Amino acid sequence: MSVVDIKSLIKAYPDPSGAGSVPVLDIESLKLEAGKHTALRGTSGSGKTTLLHCISGMILPESGSITLLDTDITTLSEAARDRFRANHIGYIFQSFNLLDGFTALENVKLGMQFADKKLDTSRAAELLEKVGLKDRLHNKPSQLSVGQQQRVCIARALANDPEIILADEPTGSLDPKTSAEVLELIKEVADGKTLMLVSHEEQVLSQFEVQLDLETLNRAMAL
Ligand SMILES: Nc1ncnc2c1ncn2[C@@H]1O[C@H](COP(=O)(O)OP(=O)(O)OP(=O)(O)O)[C@@H](O)[C@H]1O
Ligand SMILES: [Mg+2]
Repeated sequence: MSVVDIKSLIKAYPDPSGAGSVPVLDIESLKLEAGKHTALRGTSGSGKTTLLHCISGMILPESGSITLLDTDITTLSEAARDRFRANHIGYIFQSFNLLDGFTALENVKLGMQFADKKLDTSRAAELLEKVGLKDRLHNKPSQLSVGQQQRVCIARALANDPEIILADEPTGSLDPKTSAEVLELIKEVADGKTLMLVSHEEQVLSQFEVQLDLETLNRAMAL
């Protein structure tokens, strides 16, 4: 069964000069099967983050369908997409997106806030323990190393036990040893879940059984 089923997706951004639009994505078909881990490669600027933003419903495409677990999220209102994302998608951001004024524990709890489940402090603490931050629950992002901040993001992405995990270059700002540890952690916590991880690093991509290339999928690149 496909957990993510994309058809005829077109995404363009308005040209900042005000004249016309710049095509970024033109993908005829992309399916992610339940429980499979997929790596997506693509050079900088090829549209990897844009694709993950579309799949998570943070932005809408110009046309096409994005069916997640039987719901075409392009037909939902923004509020409904936000709620769908909170309930079903764990998103690990390229730039972390942790809230500076809040502790690691509070950041994970904030990840629970928009979902239908109850706020659960002990579950948030357990998730932080699972990612190796048992002793850092009350540290704010500025009081954590970059690798530790990425671990908080992983715990936050798991907050609502999502079926789908999207990871945007999660190891991009880490040294090789930490990068390998974080990648291993993501694969472990995503076991049994549908994972799409984007990267341009060969040593990361090569660890995945299913590897897709955005430039091959994307007809917009030929324009
Ligand atoms: N809000 C925006 N308005 C206009 N153009 C944008 C916007 N966001 C992204 N773009 C353009 O869309 C293209 C794809 O950007 P995107 O961030 O998806 O690339 P990426 O593959 O994630 O790159 P990187 O590997 O550097 O993170 C780029 O050419 C970028 O300039
Ligand atoms: Mg990106």
